[in-house]
Formats: sequence, structure tokens, C-alpha cells
Amino acid sequence: MMTDDPISLPPPSALPQHVAVIMDGNGRWAKARGQARIQGHRQGVETVRELVATCAEIGIGHLTLFAFSSENWRRPRLEVRLLRQLFLLALDREIDRLHGHGIRFRAIGDIGAFGSDIVKRVEAAEALTRGNGRLTLTIAANYGGRWDIARAAQSLAKEVEAGLLRAEDVTAEALGQHLSLVDIPEPDLFIRTGGEQRISNFLLWQLAYTELYFTPTLWPDFHRAEFERALHSFAGRQRRFGRTGDQVEAAWRA
Ligand code: IPE
Ligand code: IPE
Ligand code: MG
Repeated sequence: MMTDDPISLPPPSALPQHVAVIMDGNGRWAKARGQARIQGHRQGVETVRELVATCAEIGIGHLTLFAFSSENWRRPRLEVRLLRQLFLLALDREIDRLHGHGIRFRAIGDIGAFGSDIVKRVEAAEALTRGNGRLTLTIAANYGGRWDIARAAQSLAKEVEAGLLRAEDVTAEALGQHLSLVDIPEPDLFIRTGGEQRISNFLLWQLAYTELYFTPTLWPDFHRAEFERALHSFAGRQRRFGRTGDQVEAAWRA
């Protein structure tokens, strides 16, 4: 894919390692064109392809995309059915290409609820691409941050029940070890398109120190120039992790 001049990017050392995105605004994009909502979702898949290519090209190691929340089941039955079909179609069409580009595919969330055809394809895609190291693409589907934390708590409770763990060993660190995405760095940059400024039950735990970026641009219109704006915003921030600005600057000089 042809992309813009990389000169407009921040230096590699100032790029995030892990970007997490709430891809919002597909429905409004379609509505503004007098089209059915699903057309917005279809166009949204194109934006995903573009962003994945850009991340692979510029060396961002991890991209996590919120595709379907555990609350999205509340949508009209038809939209849920069409989204499920679109997911299936995208899996069938894209996995070989992802693999060809050295991209590792993963899904997080309670995907069993989508049915065995999706589960099988997801498992096959994960197995096929397991050894790829260029970019980890994680799709969050039927995912909820609260579900993730509750599931981790359950795992720990089972260990306590089995006498493998003491209650006082249930620490933030131990809980974190049982969450989705435990094996990759926490998101450095969170992007939400579509204008809403909320987390909508995405990665609640993992976003504790993530830099947040909100844009009114609707997801189907979120092209490379917009992404670069987000990267520049990120590059201009000082991440303090609880320390003072002076401490952070002194650590840089040392
Ligand atoms: C995000 O776009 C995609 C999903 C939630 C699946 P929306 O469908 O939420 O689009 P808007 O917010 O209605 O415009
Ligand atoms: C969040 O978008 C979920 C995804 C993008 C998959 P929503 O459009 O569902 O979020 P709310 O309902 O506006 O908070
Ligand atoms: Mg929305």
C-alpha cells in the first residue's frame, strides 16, 4: 500500500509500542450518507486494513482494536448478525495476508458466544500466525474490561480454593498476571474516534497509565494523517507515572 511521506512522523524513539483503539463512529458515518449502518462497518474494515499496514510499516509492535463490546449485544438483532458475518468474512479474507506480512493475530474477549465457526477460524488464525513478530494485532470481540478483571479474579479464587495461593497473595500484580494482554506491554497510546470521550468498558486495568487521545473524526475517515496527528500528540507528552516533572527530566539527562 502507498503511504504518505514518513518524514512527518515523530522519531522512532518517541513512538508508542502499543496502541489501543476504540473504533467508533461507523454508524454515524453511514447515516450521514443515507446508507445502512453496516456500510459504515464495512468501510471501517478498510480503515483497519490501512492502520494495520501503517503500524507494520512504521514499527509499532502492538495494535489492539475494540471491534465488539460485551454491551454491543444490546444493538438491534440484525446489526449484531451482520457484524458477526463481517467478522467472519474479514477473518477469511485477511488472515493469509496478515501472515504474509509477518503479523501475529490474536483475539481477546469471550468469543465463544459468536459460535463455533468464528471460534475455529480465530484459533486457526492464532495458530498460523503465532510465530510472527513484526506486529501483534489483537482484536477485542465480545470483550469487556470488567469481564476481564472478573475472570482474572475468578482464576485467583480457584487457586486459593485449591490451596495453591494464600488470600494475601492476591495482589495487583498477581491479578494482572491473569488478564488479557499480560504478555505484551500495556498500551502507551489510546485513541477513540467518533467524538465520545469515554472508555466504554474497554481495557480498564491495562489503561491505568495510558495516554488518552480523542478525536471527533469518525472511524471510516480515520486515515494516516489523522493517525500521525495522534502520534505527534503522544510524542509531545511527558509521562510521569506518579513522579514529578523535574524527576522525569533528571532521569532523561542521566
Ligand atoms: C463502532 O461504530 C463499531 C462498533 C461498535 C461495532 P458504531 O457502530 O458505534 O458507530 P456510531 O457510534 O453508531 O456512529
Ligand atoms: C465502543 O463503542 C465499542 C466499540 C467500538 C466496539 P460503542 O459505540 O458501543 O460505545 P458507546 O455505547 O457509545 O459507549
Ligand atoms: Mg458508537
